[in-house]
Amino acid sequence: MTTETITRGETVLDARGVTMRFGGLTAVRGVDLTVNSGEIVGLIGPNGAGKTTFFNCLTGLYIPTEGEVRYKGNVLPAKSFKVTAAGIARTFQNIRLFANMTVLENVLVGRHTRTKEGFWSAVLRGPGFHKAERASRERAMELLEFVGLANKADHLSRNLPYGEQRKLEIARALASEPGLLLLDEPTAGMNPQETRATEELVFAIRDKGIAVLVIEHDMRFIFNLCDRVAVLVQGEKLVEGDSATVQGDDRVVAAYLGEPFEDAPGDEEVAEVEAAEAQAASATDAAPGTDNAGKENDR
Ligand SMILES: Nc1ncnc2c1ncn2[C@@H]1O[C@H](COP(=O)(O)OP(=O)(O)OP(=O)(O)O)[C@@H](O)[C@H]1O
Ligand SMILES: [Mg+2]
Repeated sequence: MTTETITRGETVLDARGVTMRFGGLTAVRGVDLTVNSGEIVGLIGPNGAGKTTFFNCLTGLYIPTEGEVRYKGNVLPAKSFKVTAAGIARTFQNIRLFANMTVLENVLVGRHTRTKEGFWSAVLRGPGFHKAERASRERAMELLEFVGLANKADHLSRNLPYGEQRKLEIARALASEPGLLLLDEPTAGMNPQETRATEELVFAIRDKGIAVLVIEHDMRFIFNLCDRVAVLVQGEKLVEGDSATVQGDDRVVAAYLGEPFEDAPGDEEVAEVEAAEAQAASATDAAPGTDNAGKENDR
């Protein structure tokens, strides 16, 4: 199935000017990003570029210092369970499963935003849970079938190999019936066959009408999969475009290799600091022993 069969165009995610500061560190700076229905969009960048922080800003884990995030036109609530209920689901770079629950139970917990019984009922398995259980189990089994884990439904999730735990996280995210799925390094720790299978899985998710935004360091995976790729470097969006555009941009290679390039993100800050230092030095030279002396201790 190709993307042509899917209606494109509706803006599912619209992030504008997203900035996230932690004290003096600006992890994400003025990032704009849209994801449209029917699209798979990639988010790449060197370690520490701000990719996961940006995801956290999209999912209510962090409230951006500046900027606005809209999902299907509505500003997102600032709580992660409300974001999930609104229609955005995610997986985590560091897998977060209930290790001592079965594979099936993990998916059932993922459905809590879509059942009246709610999270605690699913965890504690009270009477309300049992009533709703049959329909939920059917849906959860369908999802396990979809990701290729149906034969492991009764296994404890902690006993699954790493690659299968990542698939289970995807099934659990899908259980909340999202319109947008955010995947943070879905193939980390996978072998090439598992990575290839995950690629097919992401296409199949897109073909179900779910838009996908995916972070990954595996470039072959990203360029095979994505309609569009955005590159974050030091918290700023450096380039965005199709695979050919991104691959053809020398600044992307330079950023990955840690080489300096003209107008690199962060350059302004360096220039500002250098200018301030030069100014301070000339002021000190001009009037030694004035107020500038001892300023160092005030910082
Ligand atoms: N809660 C936090 N408090 C302080 N600094 C943080 C916090 N979360 C992230 N950072 C910093 O923000 C920057 C971006 O981190 P982030 O995890 O978003 O990068 P990333 O692009 O996902 O990297 P990787 O590819 O290694 O996963 C880093 O300098 C990180 O140390
Ligand atoms: Mg990360």
